[in-house]
Amino acid sequence: MPVSGANKSSQTSNLLHRNMHRHYPVITHGKGIYLYDEDGKAYIDGCSGAMVANIGHGVEEVAEAMYQQAKTLSFTHSSRFTSRPTIELAERIRTLTPGDINHVFFVSGGSEATESAIKLARTFFLETEGMDTTRWKVISRLHSYHGGTLGAVAVTGHIPRRRKYEPMLVQFPLIAPAYCYRCTLGLTHPECDLACARELEKAIVENDPKTIAAFIAEPIVGAAAGAVPPPDGYFERIRQICDQYGVLFIADEVMTGFGRTGEIFAMNHWDIVPDIIACAKGMGAGYAPLGAVALSDKIADALVAGSGQFSHGFTYSGNPLACAAGLAVLDFLQKHDLVRNARDMGNVLFEELEILKDNPIVGDIRGRGLFAGIELVRDKTSKECFAPSLSVAERVTQECVQRGLVVYPGTGMVEGTTGDQFIVGPPLTITRDEISEIVARLDAALEAAAGQLL
Ligand SMILES: Cc1ncc(COP(=O)(O)O)c(C=O)c1O
Repeated sequence: MPVSGANKSSQTSNLLHRNMHRHYPVITHGKGIYLYDEDGKAYIDGCSGAMVANIGHGVEEVAEAMYQQAKTLSFTHSSRFTSRPTIELAERIRTLTPGDINHVFFVSGGSEATESAIKLARTFFLETEGMDTTRWKVISRLHSYHGGTLGAVAVTGHIPRRRKYEPMLVQFPLIAPAYCYRCTLGLTHPECDLACARELEKAIVENDPKTIAAFIAEPIVGAAAGAVPPPDGYFERIRQICDQYGVLFIADEVMTGFGRTGEIFAMNHWDIVPDIIACAKGMGAGYAPLGAVALSDKIADALVAGSGQFSHGFTYSGNPLACAAGLAVLDFLQKHDLVRNARDMGNVLFEELEILKDNPIVGDIRGRGLFAGIELVRDKTSKECFAPSLSVAERVTQECVQRGLVVYPGTGMVEGTTGDQFIVGPPLTITRDEISEIVARLDAALEAAAGQLL
């Protein structure tokens, strides 16, 4: 709906929406995997918002924990004080993170986690090499998403999310993605010998290793490309290259962390320990804005032995109320064994999604656990994309919404202009029957869309 004087009576005309030409239903409440709008329509939240509502909606225990915390202590500033929920949540996360990742810095979301991770990488080299260290660049990958703040956009490789802000971005090196369905290097796995991982070494050498602070990657690419997992051996090679050149490896687990892929952190699928893990989303599960960077002993020790200063922070870093919510979310996750459920139900989801392969516009189905990406094409054999003007990802998503199912659309992962995909990522509480219901609605929506498009 256009914003104009004529529409001033609209209930939300003073709210700046992401898309001012669109109507946004008002959601009044949620329970389990369902959301309900003001008109009484029920939607299955098939993407947990944006892979956030991992324990489902309306969990009483989390609400109760937040109520108790809010009336006891809702805020302290992290420049002067800390609080028990903050300390306890850091300790709980330490028990979940792999290897020597034993330290936690809290933030309020994924973009803040990315910003903190890249500043932390720079800080590590300032502490270990001195103020005149030349290490500051962060290498990232094409078709990636690391957040909406300008530092995070600077390491984001998803071209449509960069385009409008390009003049405002620090230019960091971008390398090829690990995207086998459409290898940007024109190669095939395994004959390629992981050329996309070797691109990292090329970029480090070409830029001068002494200028590179870190490499950042999503274990399984989320919003920018639609749940794209790497080929076998990819992250093993990445870890080895980072070690060889003394470059820190940042795993952006904002979407994948806290069980989404069937492991508490997706890097555990390959037994790879990064130097820094960025996380958010499922950590607060939508109950509170909460994120963190978890870091290795090596980095924390360098800080302690050096200036002791991480010159960075946000007003809500380590907020007691958000941390109390995070603790209650973790309690729920563990009490109901939801990481295992994500693994088991993930297998069911991928089995059931097989049926979609008969649909003429379904080009690829990929992902892991309860994180499935479906890429849409005009032609399965040539992998030809639909014209962007057809808004195919959006059209399919709308067909789903009409059937009471919400999925997460994305575009532009083919040369930054074309490409349509969507992600299915329901709450980790999902049952077998609920998965069947999601897939039935998806099947019907895709059939309707294919009928209109071909
Ligand atoms: C991998 C990844 N990193 C960072 C972000 C940014 O998180 P937020 O929107 O919480 O700032 C996102 C959000 O989708 C993400 O998927």
